[in-house]
Amino acid sequence: MKDDVLAQSWIPVCETKELSDKPLKAEVLGERIALFRASSGVKALKDLCVHRGVALSLGAVKNDCLVCPYHGWEYGGDGRCVHIPQLPDNQAIPLKARVPAYGCLEKYGLIWVNLGNNRPPEPAFRYLDEENFQSILFGPETVRCAAPRFIENVLDVAHFAFTHDGYLGDSSRPLIPDYRVREEGSGVLVSDDIACYQPNADARGGLVNHYRYEIPGPLAMTAVKLDKETGDIVYIVTAVCPIDERTTKVFMLFAANFGMDWGEFYDYQRILFEQDRLIVENQKPEELPLDLQAELHLNPDRLSIAYRKMLRGLGVSFGTA
Ligand code: FES
Ligand code: CO
Repeated sequence: MKDDVLAQSWIPVCETKELSDKPLKAEVLGERIALFRASSGVKALKDLCVHRGVALSLGAVKNDCLVCPYHGWEYGGDGRCVHIPQLPDNQAIPLKARVPAYGCLEKYGLIWVNLGNNRPPEPAFRYLDEENFQSILFGPETVRCAAPRFIENVLDVAHFAFTHDGYLGDSSRPLIPDYRVREEGSGVLVSDDIACYQPNADARGGLVNHYRYEIPGPLAMTAVKLDKETGDIVYIVTAVCPIDERTTKVFMLFAANFGMDWGEFYDYQRILFEQDRLIVENQKPEELPLDLQAELHLNPDRLSIAYRKMLRGLGVSFGTA
């Protein structure tokens, strides 16, 4: 059920610290994947021994290889079987004894996989790389919604005043200043700064924050949230793993250039997240409609319109209708 377009993206699957010296199972785009550590780095194989269909992630790691728990076949990080214990020494390992190997890397405290054939540039989120910013991970959280429904939620500026009334917005001030979304050379979508009054922004009291959104690809978004009076920035990255068409693992990374109380921030973010979860787990249709006639749109929806057009242009089928 793999989506060829999304397979070309780097997709976060777990935290780096979750992968010890034992293999770990992950699910991405309806595929089962076995992760393991070799001396040259993290490896990802299709989680299916070619001998009898056993999940390799139930096995063990030995000599940079993943060893199947059923009959001990050993697979290298490139997916080739390098040892079959039942074969006499004078018999060659069959060429068909191999499993697909996927792209895999560690960055920002997460393990990312790529199921496609062309390896795109590794994920890069600018303020997470800057020294004067401190960052934390929120999640991962598993949400019962299609991945594009979740990304669209995080791009939605008009919901602050209602879903997050008293936190990120104020229902007596629902108007959103008009803004534009433009495409940058690399296909990245970028919004203007959008001024939003926030009665309880980050638990620091009421202030106007300016949001600048970016959509770097179908499974991620970023926002720079700027307080123009102080220069304080909170940088928000949402990257999602579509487990299957209607289940999504959400990773949110936050960075700030000021002395943020991250414990307090995390608790605040937990409230916001649960407010959003209730919405996205109850939307119909579950898949994000890419036909722009299918739902109604207003000016504040420009980001979601641009996102839907991007998905349609790329031909994303997973989690879309
Ligand atoms: Fe994996 Fe037999 S099923 S070695
Ligand atoms: Co929200």
